[in-house]
Order: sequence, then structure tokens, then C-alpha cells
Amino acid sequence: MPDPVYHKTWGRDYAVAARAEGVYVFDADGRAYLDAVGGSFVVSIGHGVREVTDAMMEQARQVSFPYVGDFTTEAELELARQVLSMAPPGMAKVFAVSGGSEANEVAIKLARKYQLARGRSSRWRIVGRWQSYHGATLGAMSASGHSKRRSDFQPYLLDFPHIGPPYCYRCPWHLEYPSCRLACADDLEVAINRHGADSIAAFICEPIGGAADGAVVPPKEYFGRIREICDHYDILLITDEVITGFGRTGANFAVDHFGVVPDLITCGKGLGSGYAPIGAVVIHDKVVSTLESTHGSLFTGYTYSGHPIACAAGTAVLQYVKRHGLVERARREEPWLRELIGRMESHPTVGDIRGKGFLIGIELVADEQSKRPFPVDAQFGKKVVKHAWDLGMVMRSESGTVGGVAGDHLLLAPPLVTSRDDLTKMCSILDQALTAAEHEVSLGS
Ligand SMILES: Cc1ncc(COP(=O)(O)O)c(C=O)c1O
Repeated sequence: MPDPVYHKTWGRDYAVAARAEGVYVFDADGRAYLDAVGGSFVVSIGHGVREVTDAMMEQARQVSFPYVGDFTTEAELELARQVLSMAPPGMAKVFAVSGGSEANEVAIKLARKYQLARGRSSRWRIVGRWQSYHGATLGAMSASGHSKRRSDFQPYLLDFPHIGPPYCYRCPWHLEYPSCRLACADDLEVAINRHGADSIAAFICEPIGGAADGAVVPPKEYFGRIREICDHYDILLITDEVITGFGRTGANFAVDHFGVVPDLITCGKGLGSGYAPIGAVVIHDKVVSTLESTHGSLFTGYTYSGHPIACAAGTAVLQYVKRHGLVERARREEPWLRELIGRMESHPTVGDIRGKGFLIGIELVADEQSKRPFPVDAQFGKKVVKHAWDLGMVMRSESGTVGGVAGDHLLLAPPLVTSRDDLTKMCSILDQALTAAEHEVSLGS
């Protein structure tokens, strides 16, 4: 029988994932794959944790679905409490949805509602950043600066401005930190002035980059300046923590590394660790109280918003994260892991290694000295990923690192529970995969 599934990628045979346990996924033939990217930056506590599946079963038995327009559930309330207990100070409420794109759609609408409540009906634009990704739905994609994913759908996208990324390895302004004086942060003010502050509702960015830019970490003063600009123009700051939230970078939220508090935080992935489709928007009291003053119902949402089984999964995951000290573990193991990954610098194709905690990006180059990227159609990153797969490891690559049109990078995001032995194995497979791909393009020694 022909394969009835319309798969994400054409022209490849999909292995059937039959079972998963800890940091390994097993296919139908019993072959084990080390999950070095947590599925897709999702799995934080590992696969097959019984207490999470038990919590979901228990919730399903009690009440599997009341509509959020009519009821709340203890599961929805408890998830909100758990999320707020990890969130920066001043965060007041949580709106649970089914994933990261939905969370960003809701955040965009909340920003608009906030501006309406302040009597500023002309404010609607969301400023995004190039080399960013906020989701596949059209609002989130409009805010995203991922050229490859935007291109086919450009006619549907909203007129949202984008600013340059804080990408020091290839500074868009050809400057160097710190003498650059944070031109990348000041670019927000440039965009605001160009489009008119009275048309702008919010600025959205990933506090530490993800798939699109290969885990770019901004300079430490970046968010202080961004916060100042947002406050000055009364523009909301939305940080997209869909990848970075709940410990991935060694802090509860990546923005914690920078000591600023955003107005809205969007999350997904690590919130449910893959046990259920779940995302959330965490809302600052400043926004809540403004909306409350105008009886600000959101008038948006989804049938499955606050789904109790997903919320029960999220709560059980966060309890596990806390009980096993996984945020602290990611922070503690970072220097050791970076030392290990740092050994990849001996490869002629490794240009830059970046990221934080258990989120690692490796930018690939055709020439180390000049930083010349591979052309996209060389698909060098994909070659590395294919060799890793053949060696029994799942990882990711993305192309378009350089201005959306050239270059590529590798991504690693092992579950936060990955042992030192498995992290060592991850690096050894990566090393072998890089060597094999380099030989393919005649760059090997
Ligand atoms: C930073 C970021 N935001 C949002 C999303 C969209 O999340 P989802 O795919 O769950 O809709 C993603 C997905 O990769 C992401 O990486």
C-alpha cells in the first residue's frame, strides 16, 4: 500500500518511531537513535517518564474536555501556577494554547488589545528580527525573519518591519563588540522612527536564537537597551521562549540571563517536553491591569486552549524539571559541555560555536579564515546530519544562516537529563559525521 501520509519533507523514507526511552528513540526494527536535539528542541526531561503519562491518564479519566469558554479546570489553574512560579517577577497570568505558533498569535493580539486599551488604535505593527522564527501560522510568520520559510507565502504576510540580529560573528553593520555600541539594539529605534511609533504595538524576538540563526547569544547589554527603547516608545516587549523556556539555556527563561523582564513571554516545546501539544503566553501585570481596566476579553483563542490533558502533562513536566534540578543541571554542565563541543573547532568547516546551556549552534563555513559560507545548494549541514543519522544520532541543520541566502549551521539540544556518557557519545558521533561530510566535499585531512 502506498504511504498515505503527506510527510513534511518529500523524497525521503521515514523511519517509524516505535518506542522511546530516556534520550533514545527506537525505530520499528529496534535501531536506537540518540536524540541529540530533543526531537526539535522539545524533549527536556527525556522520553517515557512514567509520572507524566500517569498524570495525563489520570486527567483523562477525571475530565478530558470541558470548553474553556465555559469552564476552567484544576489542570489549567495548576499549570498557570507552575509556569508563574518559574517566570520573572511581575508576570501575572498565563494563557495556555497548543503550541508555539499559537502562543505567538495570541501574544500579537494581546499587544494589539493592550494598545487599544491605551486608546492608541493606530498601533498594530509588530517589529521582528531577521534570522528569527516565531511559527508557521501567518501572523507568527509575518513577525519571523526566516527568509526561506517566508518566501512562498510572502503575499499573505503582514507588513511587519524587521531589524538586524545581534549576530556578532557576522555583524550586519560590520562592527565589533563593544566598540559597536550595540548598533543592533539601536536598530529597533531606527525601525520605530522609520515606520512611526504610533503604528507599532510590540517588538518580538528570541532572547537567545534558535533554529533560524543557530543559537545566537546577544551581547549582555543588548536587552537592557531594548527594554529602554520599548519603554520610551510604549511598545511591548515580547520574548519568544518557545525553545529557550524552562531550563534549556540554564535559566528558567533565557531572558533571565540578561536581567530584564519582558511584557509577554511565549512558550511551547519544553513546557510539555513533547508529552502533549502545549504552549502558553505568560502575561505581565502591566498588560493584565491595562486590559482589565477596559474589561479586556481577548476575543480570540482556540477550541483546545487550556486543554486539561495537555495542562496536566505540562504540570507534571515542570514538577519533574524542578524536582530533578534540571535548570541548575543545564547551567552547571554548560562549561563541561562547551569544552567537549569546543573540540569540534579543529574541523576546518566549524566557523563558530555558540549557544547557552543545552542549546548549541555550530556555524559551518567553507573557509575558516575568510568565514566564507557554503552555498545553500551545497547542503553541507544536511550531509553532516545524514552521516550522524547513519551513526545512530538525530540532530538538525538549517540553511540560510547568512542573510537567509547562504551558509548553514548545525543544532544540538539534548534533553536536560542527558548523562555525561551520552553527551560524550553525542560529540563523538558529531566529530565522525563532520569528518565524513568534509571528505564528501574534499575538505577532510
Ligand atoms: C522560537 C520558536 N518560536 C515559535 C515556534 C513555533 O512553535 P510550534 O512549531 O510549536 O508552533 C518555534 C518552532 O520551532 C520556535 O522555534
